[in-house]
Amino acid sequence: MSWLYRSLIRPALFEFDSERIHDFTLRALGWLGSHPGLLNVLSACSAPALPIHLFGLHFPNPIGLAAGMDKRAVALPVWERLGFGFTELGGVTWQAQPGNPPPRMFRIVDDTALINRMGFNNDGAEATAARLAQWKESGLWPKHPVAINLGKSKITPLPEAAEEFARSFRVLKPFGDFFVVNVSSPNTPNLRALQDRSALDEILAALQEANQISSDGVGAARPVLVKIAPDLSLAAIDDLLELIQQRRVAGIVATNTTVKRPIVTATSAALLYGENGGLSGRPLRDLSTGVIRHISQQTNRMLPIIGVGGVFNAADAMAKILAGASLVQIYTGLVYEGPGLAKSIVLGLQQELARRGFSDIPSAIGAGVSHNSR
Ligand code: FNR
Repeated sequence: MSWLYRSLIRPALFEFDSERIHDFTLRALGWLGSHPGLLNVLSACSAPALPIHLFGLHFPNPIGLAAGMDKRAVALPVWERLGFGFTELGGVTWQAQPGNPPPRMFRIVDDTALINRMGFNNDGAEATAARLAQWKESGLWPKHPVAINLGKSKITPLPEAAEEFARSFRVLKPFGDFFVVNVSSPNTPNLRALQDRSALDEILAALQEANQISSDGVGAARPVLVKIAPDLSLAAIDDLLELIQQRRVAGIVATNTTVKRPIVTATSAALLYGENGGLSGRPLRDLSTGVIRHISQQTNRMLPIIGVGGVFNAADAMAKILAGASLVQIYTGLVYEGPGLAKSIVLGLQQELARRGFSDIPSAIGAGVSHNSR
């Protein structure tokens, strides 16, 4: 599958603008998703079981779809069929918004990377909730955990961010098995200022309160995670970790895209690297793994981490697990490696675990990091 995709399908798709191809693919997958009989054509992509329990949820395997791929929840039933162990939808903001003007997504093929400055283009929390309600009614809701990524609307002033996150959370709570507070996208002006301790504290307090109230009959509190940028200093990460533990945050998603750029010599790549936005894919891989390792070390493996950034194969995923990630997500890898990627990573992880003498995923988590006590 991966060979077929790389040698025949990808070159044809890459002839076109990357956002156009993304929209076309999501429309096609959305159509497929709403025709249950046709979903079986994806059975070749289904992954073997490699289960893990986390946040009180059962994950059939640790490989998830990262935020940003299905922002509008249009293809929800498909991701499970493509072998993913969980799906993160969104980012969703309270207001519907168009995002930044195109072009806003660029491929750097030589480096298997993307730069994007989408700017949270999405339908808004209420319209997204309505679409999710339709998926529930259709009976096509996936069996694996569904997470919802929350962002801040562009027009909302920073001091009102906490209330806005809580409003989106309340509307979407019935549909998310867990939630991710995204304060790390580089594409909404000043959003990353919300990684500042006092600003994040306000957001987490508002969410904690909304999480305890069961106005909609959805009583059980949802695990809430925070997604951080790979560009924070280690001191800033440590500061956040303290707060996150105080506020009983369920875990960290590490990391979002980076605003850093690698040093390049090729003129074509240098031009692309001049585009504003967040860089994902291969150049992000080790930066994000370093952040995961640091968090794992600082928290003595006590805080669950979802590792994301530059995962293209089982070795990349294993490196993140050994550094301390309990779950791993992919976005850019899917663009470059195609629909068989989740399955091939899960198969490869099974072999990697056996080769290294681990009986399961939990026993490998953080095994490559020196901790105070194990
Ligand atoms: C993203 N990502 C992202 N993250 C997030 O928390 N909310 C979002 O809405 C988006 N949107 C988004 C759009 C596009 C086009 C890309 C490429 C990425 C970040 C994504 O979830 C992930 O953290 C990074 O892309 C790093 O992983 P990969 O792509 O290297 O596997």
